[in-house]
Amino acid sequence: MKKLAIVGAQWGDEGKGKIVNHFSKAYDYIIRFSGGANAGHTIYFNGKKYVNHLLPSISPETNSIGVLSKGMALDLEQMIKELEVLEADFKGISKRFAIDKEIFLVLPYHKEEDAVLEDMRKYPIGTTKRGIGPSFADKVSRENIRLIDLFDEDRLYERLENIIYLKNNVYQGKLNLDTDTVYQTILAQFRRIQELGCQLTSSSELYEDLQSKKVLLEGAQGIMLDIDSGTYPFVTSSQTTAHGASTVDLTLTEDDNVMGVVKAYTTRVGEGEFPTELDGEEADRLRQLGNEYGATTGRDRRVGWLDLPQLRYAIRKSKLNGIVLTKGDVLDGYDTVKVCVGYEINGEVKAMPMIADEFRHAKPIYKTLKGWKNVFDIHFLKYITFIEQELGLEVDYISYGPKTEDIMDKKTFILHMD
Ligand code: GDP
Ligand code: IMO
Ligand code: MG
Repeated sequence: MKKLAIVGAQWGDEGKGKIVNHFSKAYDYIIRFSGGANAGHTIYFNGKKYVNHLLPSISPETNSIGVLSKGMALDLEQMIKELEVLEADFKGISKRFAIDKEIFLVLPYHKEEDAVLEDMRKYPIGTTKRGIGPSFADKVSRENIRLIDLFDEDRLYERLENIIYLKNNVYQGKLNLDTDTVYQTILAQFRRIQELGCQLTSSSELYEDLQSKKVLLEGAQGIMLDIDSGTYPFVTSSQTTAHGASTVDLTLTEDDNVMGVVKAYTTRVGEGEFPTELDGEEADRLRQLGNEYGATTGRDRRVGWLDLPQLRYAIRKSKLNGIVLTKGDVLDGYDTVKVCVGYEINGEVKAMPMIADEFRHAKPIYKTLKGWKNVFDIHFLKYITFIEQELGLEVDYISYGPKTEDIMDKKTFILHMD
């Protein structure tokens, strides 16, 4: 059955949560395949705002299952918090979340470690301090714990003792970890997850079931934050392109649909390259209009114009075959808007960098377009057409407000134009 993957095509916060929530009603499984509680996906149900960091954006009005796949890093404490918020309004919803038992955990000390490392860095990354980097680093260096390890308590204790002994030696007093405390804490959290009724599964069990079901893959972060394709080292620690879907034993084929969520301008949280970044009053105006403050950390998001070379790069890296354009309404009332159409990189004009490192040296070349009074004004459609021509890719859907219902496919949208 044709799968749909929805990924952020910039540096995150493009509006993925809302878009996934819009499409999720037609799908049986909503699978989150990357990142952890560093994400902040805002969705609305019955006019009430919910920000999920870990939980897949399932709709309470359906019976779909939200899967936390082993491409993610699972923070049990955060998951309980989110489930309890949802349970208060939608009793029994926890049973609609399934966790891959082979998922790696974010342990309580990973968050401390994240903060200690950021403090010690001469040039910090600007992480969310949610413990994501340390959890994935421990996975790769074979010193992390998976959910499945919590089923065998004696073995868990031994593993933790070994890992904590090592960490205390490495950090020399900067982290003071105690095996018993970590052990008791995570077992209590695990019991609570079970009490709430979450399903525990595996990618193989899922694989069988997924063959006949409608599957939506929910990306987190954005392609430019991908560990392999993003602006390294200012990236997150997992695969944020649609290739991350392989963590649920699924292979995306040419028949599947990979949609990139693109904000009508660009934002970025944390450090790292951002060719079209604005500063001063221009930045303050856009930040306020777009309410661009981090959903996870509350930090000011950096803001700038739409960047077509960056999007061309993202389209190639994640094999996008369609675009959902969000937040064009934020630019309502601008007399003119700028779009970056190319870069000058070391004296050479380029439509798109070939490798991520080139973003460090990219000087944007802008084209100025006429602004729009509101999104149903013809000049917004001209903006969309311009983007499509430059990218060689269709904008299939247009989101024009934070509410779930503020979205139309392009044909319907055109019928509503002034
Ligand atoms: P995500 O991380 O990609 O899911 O995005 P976030 O939820 O972190 O940030 C997107 C913000 O924009 C949220 O506050 C959404 O409610 C809001 N939003 C999403 N789509 C639109 C849109 O089309 N217009 C406006 N004005 N806000 C939107
Ligand atoms: P959603 O899913 C925006 C950024 C952080 C930092 C870098 C590394 O809401 O779009 P990490 O804590 O992952 O080690 O931080 O990545 N970052 C995000 N920026 N949206 C996100 O998620 C992000 N998740 C991580 O700000 O620059
Ligand atoms: Mg977000």
